[in-house]
Amino acid sequence: MAMENNLLENKVILITGSSRGIGATTARLAKKYGAEVIVHGKTESEQLRALASELKAKYIYCDITNEEDVRIKVSKLGSIDILVNNAGINPSKTFQELKNDDWREIFETNVLGTVNFSRTVLPRMIERREGKIINIASIKGYNHINGKPAYAASKAAIMRITSSMAEEFAPYNILINAIAPGFTDTEMTRTTLSPKIQEQIKNIPLKRLAQAEEIAEVILFLASNKASYITGQTILVDGGYSIK
Ligand SMILES: NC(=O)c1ccc[n+]([C@@H]2O[C@H](COP(=O)([O-])OP(=O)(O)OC[C@H]3O[C@@H](n4cnc5c(N)ncnc54)[C@H](OP(=O)(O)O)[C@@H]3O)[C@@H](O)[C@H]2O)c1
Repeated sequence: MAMENNLLENKVILITGSSRGIGATTARLAKKYGAEVIVHGKTESEQLRALASELKAKYIYCDITNEEDVRIKVSKLGSIDILVNNAGINPSKTFQELKNDDWREIFETNVLGTVNFSRTVLPRMIERREGKIINIASIKGYNHINGKPAYAASKAAIMRITSSMAEEFAPYNILINAIAPGFTDTEMTRTTLSPKIQEQIKNIPLKRLAQAEEIAEVILFLASNKASYITGQTILVDGGYSIK
């Protein structure tokens, strides 16, 4: 499958929150598909450095809520062909538990983090009349799922930011899409879904969690030239959860 392995040849891809979970899996797969990968984490963790060394990749670290730091770190990287806005948090709090500081933290990370990285890479994409941005939303921003209104609202915002940005940047040949993953087997799910995990799986038509590779494949399809006529969409990758 030589062609498959060249899917992202000559492309530079920056994946936020790729020190672990879906981001790390996406980074490994992007490397396999021939991309030059740049990994990112909040801090210069051992995990981040180990992944960068495994993939012979550059790495950057910064809090995505810090606009200035994002700008400084990203401006040192040169042109980015593909940005995957994946970093996010999912504090498991009900409306009654959520304080305004929690709402701010979740929106600053999940929404403004995406805005900060996008704002930084877009000028070069506009100049070059080419670029792809893939935002990671969530099934929880699409469907009603009880218990996490701030997270759900932040991911719903990602879907609408995606569609409105897609329209604004289409004249520059910049394609902007989102993925809404269902329940995926990562550290985030293990800490937030447990011990309700079995109960949740019963409601998924495919009766299992997604593996991170199954999410990464769709992200990288959207990142590739195969997806040259898709923009502004959110693709649900949820094992059929949303059809119930
Ligand atoms: N797992 C699921 O079931 C699921 C389902 C739907 C959607 N999603 C979405 O998919 C994305 C990845 O999820 P995951 O499960 O792979 O998450 P994860 O394993 O918890 O990893 C989160 C990543 O985001 C980074 N991060 C978090 N806050 C940050 C900040 N303020 N600044 C910079 N980096 C930050 C972390 O960096 P450090 O390692 O440095 O902390 C880490 O690399 C998220 O947007 C999540 O909402 C996940």
